[in-house]
Amino acid sequence: MKTIQDACKILKEGGVVGMPTETVYGLAGSIESEAGIKNIFATKERPFFDPLIVHVSSINQAKNYTTGWNDLCEKLATALWPGPVTFVVPKNEKISDLISSGLETVGLRMPKHKLALELIETLGNPIAAPSANKFKKTSPTSAKHVQDEFKDILVIDGGQCEIGIESTVLGVFENEIKIYRPGMINKALLQEIISDEKISIEYIESPVAPGHLKHHYMPEKPVIVHTEGSDISKVPEDLTSKPVIWTLPEDSTLAARELYSKFKEFDKELCTSIIIKVSTNQLASEEFKGILNRLEKAASFFI
Ligand code: TXA
Ligand code: MG
Repeated sequence: MKTIQDACKILKEGGVVGMPTETVYGLAGSIESEAGIKNIFATKERPFFDPLIVHVSSINQAKNYTTGWNDLCEKLATALWPGPVTFVVPKNEKISDLISSGLETVGLRMPKHKLALELIETLGNPIAAPSANKFKKTSPTSAKHVQDEFKDILVIDGGQCEIGIESTVLGVFENEIKIYRPGMINKALLQEIISDEKISIEYIESPVAPGHLKHHYMPEKPVIVHTEGSDISKVPEDLTSKPVIWTLPEDSTLAARELYSKFKEFDKELCTSIIIKVSTNQLASEEFKGILNRLEKAASFFI
């Protein structure tokens, strides 16, 4: 495919391209190109303290970049890769400090998208890619979203993202897993795969990666998350005078897939705010954990 060849040429020369994955689109740079990695940070306007995820096309390739591939990594990767989950493991010297933001660890992920895998394979080495949006803004789930934000870059069109929110980020240790960023691979699923009570799994925002900011994923319009039974009059009236209202779909797969494209769609409307209605069931559901995390960070009001 010509686009893949063109994209490889750009990556080799230190440029960046828009890359489809099953979660969200990534802003791809070759890990072998220092210029390419610097270009990612510059294009995104992302501070250097926020580490990048390295995307691989096989489990074997991932093992070349870490000194800490343990049995737990092997088990999880076998069950879940390619797929929407990133493992944070000790890095080796092949991962530059620029990629890891000076941390001793690296996030590795094998995406489940034919074109992403083809791009990594044709390039011959892994690709570093954050979500293809300006820092703190909503992640893109279509090629058009990326092109709207970055007019001058080549975007590989891989259709609409199947998952719709970013990967689950896991710190994988000898006998424990820390869920640094929740996503559609949730704790219950991890427990099922591991089926070993000695391995603890807990939600904990990464203390070392300052990428996990309080506000993130924000569209231009203020987002109000309105949970079932709460009083909307707690929100200033000028915001609620002409809102668009979206009821979060009952099915979590659908809710995740639609979330960011709804943000982008509503942003274009003449409205004072985006109200998202969330049910009590959804609030308590493990399946909605990742979606609620994004809503919390995108919301100006969560009532
Ligand atoms: O689904 C995804 O993960 C997408 C697609 C493109 O693969 N990528 C993505 O990248 O969401 P980004 O950079 O927007 O978010 C990566 C998150 C950041 O919050 C970062 O702090 C965390 O992963 N992260 C990366 N490396 C880490 C590390 N070594 N330790 C802890 N957290 C890390
Ligand atoms: Mg991001």
